[in-house]
Amino acid sequence: MDQLREPAIFIDKAELTLGSGRSRVHVLRGASLSIPAGEVVGLVGPSGSGKSTLLMVVAGLERVDTGRVVIAGRDYAGMNEDALAAFRGSEIGFVFQAFHLMQTMTALENVAVPLELSGETDAFSRAEAMLARVGLGQRLTHYPAALSGGEQQRVAIARALVTRPAILIADEPTGNLDGDTGREIADLLFETSREHGATLLLVTHDRELAARCDRTVRISAGHIEPEAAAPRQPLRAVAETSA
Ligand SMILES: Nc1ncnc2c1ncn2[C@@H]1O[C@H](COP(=O)(O)OP(=O)(O)OP(=O)(O)O)[C@@H](O)[C@H]1O
Ligand SMILES: [Mg+2]
Repeated sequence: MDQLREPAIFIDKAELTLGSGRSRVHVLRGASLSIPAGEVVGLVGPSGSGKSTLLMVVAGLERVDTGRVVIAGRDYAGMNEDALAAFRGSEIGFVFQAFHLMQTMTALENVAVPLELSGETDAFSRAEAMLARVGLGQRLTHYPAALSGGEQQRVAIARALVTRPAILIADEPTGNLDGDTGREIADLLFETSREHGATLLLVTHDRELAARCDRTVRISAGHIEPEAAAPRQPLRAVAETSA
């Protein structure tokens, strides 16, 4: 297959059972998903339908029992845990609802971590530039506890994108923020992922946010539902024609 036209995220007939004994749950039931590079996709569905689990599968943090997972051209089936961890460190960025920052590290240190882990020598200057990009150039030495929720999420976005990953996954990134702050954070996510050419897969319960994605994918009971309507014009195309 032409390397350039390969989807950024390709999941085919994924089956996954988690837990053991009485808490065993058949979470993913033949989930299939194909997302071209650069697309912004909103993943929606009821609580417990498998949204977070599907993100874990994309990140290689959970392995499927059967089915195929090919992310940025790499088939996870052939990769051991070390290879997956290295791949995740360079190609996948995460943003969570609860920010998940290291409380004992400053904003700058939090953003520098992924670069330091991959042995980059200019980790701090790149982290500083990324924090400036998300509007926190004046908050470099703040600890998370001294930042507002929206600011903490800006740090988390900076940390997720600082390695220039191919894929950005966000699990209810505005879920802990008020409406206005949530909209600002969504704007920032869309803008920065576009600037970095990242494919964005975003879980949300917020209809307004879902409607702003290029496409919405619905999961129910571990299965991706067939698309109901023709896809709308992608955000990117709109941005290009209005530029
Ligand atoms: N480690 C686990 N062991 C057993 N069951 C699990 C495990 N992880 C998740 N589950 C179950 O799998 C189902 C899907 O969980 P998941 O977190 O993916 O749902 P979700 O769609 O993200 O829900 P929400 O919208 O509430 O965040 C749930 O019923 C959950 O209880
Ligand atoms: Mg979830």
